[in-house]
Amino acid sequence: MIILGIETSCDETAVCVIEANGPLEGAEIIICANITLSQARMHAPYGGVFPNLAKREHIKNLPIILKEILRKAKINGEKPKVDAIAVTYGPGLEPCLWAGITFAKTLAEKWSVPIVPVNHMEGHIFSALLRRKENPKHEARSTKHFGFRISSLEFPAVALLVSGGHTELDLMEDYGKYRLIGETRDDAVGEAFDKVARLLGLPYPGGPEISRLAERMRTSASVLPSLVLPRPMLHSPDYDFSFSGIKTAVLYLLKKIGAPSEQIKAEIAREFEDAVTEVLVSKTKRALREYGAQTLIVAGGVIANTHIRSEFGKLAAEEGITLLIPELSHTTDNALMIAVASYATVMNKVEGLPALETIRADGTAKISERNN
Ligand code: KG4
Ligand code: ZN
Repeated sequence: MIILGIETSCDETAVCVIEANGPLEGAEIIICANITLSQARMHAPYGGVFPNLAKREHIKNLPIILKEILRKAKINGEKPKVDAIAVTYGPGLEPCLWAGITFAKTLAEKWSVPIVPVNHMEGHIFSALLRRKENPKHEARSTKHFGFRISSLEFPAVALLVSGGHTELDLMEDYGKYRLIGETRDDAVGEAFDKVARLLGLPYPGGPEISRLAERMRTSASVLPSLVLPRPMLHSPDYDFSFSGIKTAVLYLLKKIGAPSEQIKAEIAREFEDAVTEVLVSKTKRALREYGAQTLIVAGGVIANTHIRSEFGKLAAEEGITLLIPELSHTTDNALMIAVASYATVMNKVEGLPALETIRADGTAKISERNN
């Protein structure tokens, strides 16, 4: 089936067209066209996403991107050959979510196709499940662009989701069946990266900036004792996280130092990255063991981070389990992950898809309820 995916939960306006075929496990996914337009530069002066500005940009850009997507996917015309529209309904910024949903509804009515509402965090999970087909050279020569498959999963799986708005550990017992086992009690990891970057005078979004600075320091010896940061909740008996304390520790450190040199800033960036990574890896490791996980899924914008990716690679190797992690280009928000996740919904739903009028934005939507 041909799916048009739309993602507007934050500051990326993203649209794609995929062709998905076969049973969910091992399903073939062909990306016919995929565009992500980032508004990051526009929000940089505010040091974060300004929701109404983001909404306005989504509304302005969606029709332009759609036109280009349909042209690229070679399905333009009065009634393009689309079988379903996948759209993010939450979590995210509600004005932004509504921009995508309203746009999707207009198209659905015009083209007489159903809408599949997708949870953004489940989208991130599916970004990690996409693996390139074994024969990329052949694929590259064909008229369609890239061929992927949805990985078959060995359950139970533990999923660590780390983005700008969320940090959570979920136990996944089957496709679409999640149990929340831990989450942040304050800042999300990406949010902490962005706030610490701001304290260090780096532009928004801060994650990539901190990562770049920290990488420069990876070859040098361990960090100066005076720059050591806390590892909050490292030994707490639950699977919850807390990152605002590390940010506050950076704030006090900078107050004490006064005007930090570029060298000191880079050392702080590295120490911050190390502190966050240690906590994430340690809690995930414990969850893997306690729940007897066969698979580890890590996803969300923060998984673009080189150091964090490599530490999770080591963890999975040590534990002898499969690691599923998105390709770099699929880590931050995109429409591909939404379209792919919608295929799982379509394949799993027995009772059919929701009526258009019942689809609403839900800024705090969850994929699972907490029960531990
Ligand atoms: O998943 P995402 O694109 O949007 C949300 O759903 O929130 O995640 C964005 C977050 C931002 O906080 C950004 O700073 C962070 O991911 N991020 C990174 C890196 N690239 C993006 N954090 C650490 N290292 C990176 N390389
Ligand atoms: Zn996201």
